Amino acid sequence: MVGDWFAPLCPPDAGRNLPIPFYPSSVTELSVEPELIRWSERFAARTRSNVGAEIAQILALAARTDVISFAGGIPDPVTFPGRELAAILAELAEQADVTAFQYGPTEGLASTREWLAGRLEQLEGRRPGDGELMVTSGGIEALELLGKAFLDPGDIVAVEAPTYLGAIMSVRSFEADVAGIAVDDDGLDPAALEAELAKGLRPKFLYTIPDHQNPAGVTLSAERRTAVADLARRYGFLVVEDVAYRELTFTPDRPQAMWAAAPDVVLQIGTFSKTFMPGTRLGWAAGPAEVVAKLAWAKQLTDQCPSGLGQRLLEEYGRRGLLDEQIRNANELYGSRCAALLAALEAELGERARWTRPKGGFFSWVTLPGVDALDLAARGADAGVAVVPGSPFYADDQGGNAVRLSFSRAHEDEIAEGVRRLAALL
Ligand SMILES: Cc1ncc(COP(=O)(O)O)c(C=O)c1O
Repeated sequence: MVGDWFAPLCPPDAGRNLPIPFYPSSVTELSVEPELIRWSERFAARTRSNVGAEIAQILALAARTDVISFAGGIPDPVTFPGRELAAILAELAEQADVTAFQYGPTEGLASTREWLAGRLEQLEGRRPGDGELMVTSGGIEALELLGKAFLDPGDIVAVEAPTYLGAIMSVRSFEADVAGIAVDDDGLDPAALEAELAKGLRPKFLYTIPDHQNPAGVTLSAERRTAVADLARRYGFLVVEDVAYRELTFTPDRPQAMWAAAPDVVLQIGTFSKTFMPGTRLGWAAGPAEVVAKLAWAKQLTDQCPSGLGQRLLEEYGRRGLLDEQIRNANELYGSRCAALLAALEAELGERARWTRPKGGFFSWVTLPGVDALDLAARGADAGVAVVPGSPFYADDQGGNAVRLSFSRAHEDEIAEGVRRLAALL
């Protein structure tokens, strides 16, 4: 009997008899056939929420090259740096740049943070003070650090409905839950948030993507940004502003960053994955020093420090003005693809659908009354066009008749053809 219970705990090379130190002293040696081990019974409770399957599906669709893809929210490789970056890489290698090759500080290299602080000051009109800025290994790591620092099982995080699927997955992986707050063409609705707070919702933090939101493509208006910050002060929660797409803008005017306007209650998290390239896995977090210090504590439990080589590359690339140039060129490309998508939707779908009109980013959100989006996505893949159904972007059962269309990867002629194929399926 004891053997049955203990057997699955054995390591996979259990053909050898291995001592298991924490077993009762009478059971010191075991032998088990590897096929009897059921690892799923040993995984932590936090793995049991349904996280991961949807994003894997989306990435699988995004990776397909045999379809016109409106699926993954990934940058077009034509925007990636080339010769200039190779030169910087060679310089760093020739100089045997120790900061690039050695372990570095958890918060990021001092010189990279100095460059980044200057960049934020130039872009947002606010320079992070001492201890208010750290470098992260991309945007998703910032979410992981927030979870480690803030979330206990049963806690609640308020999110936009719909929101970035990775955020829902991240929160759930801490055995916490998300409360969806309605979004319209001006972004998160503060009245809906206030109504939930008045009813008793007490989120540890609110996660919002104010600029060119993923997946809805909408931008939070200036008045609403102020209203949300006021609610955060009144009810005592942190606002996490994810600016993943903020710089990918097709119009010069944009509302002030929430962090710059309300640094007492807002933590800004950002990523260079969409603007520079995902390959270096770099991002940042800027906010109240006490919060940033706790995130740095959490980072010591993950990778301990962001890639030194990546930081030095990005910093040198940025200091030479090349990042700004890359972003300008990318915005021209994505801006015309967005215009092509909106024109194709108008021409092919007309009254049959409603869609958002992004002013930046990668996405438009298309609502198709009476259409089963999961079925449309499946039939679309067969017809050579990949879209992402809306439901995974919600924590509840909404989104069944919506799809997210990403215009970042498809060429303009493919966009027109892709929308034609979708329309034919409706
Ligand atoms: C809103 C948002 N935040 C964060 C990320 C993740 O960024 P990273 O690749 O830097 O982890 C994404 C990626 O799709 C995103 O859409």
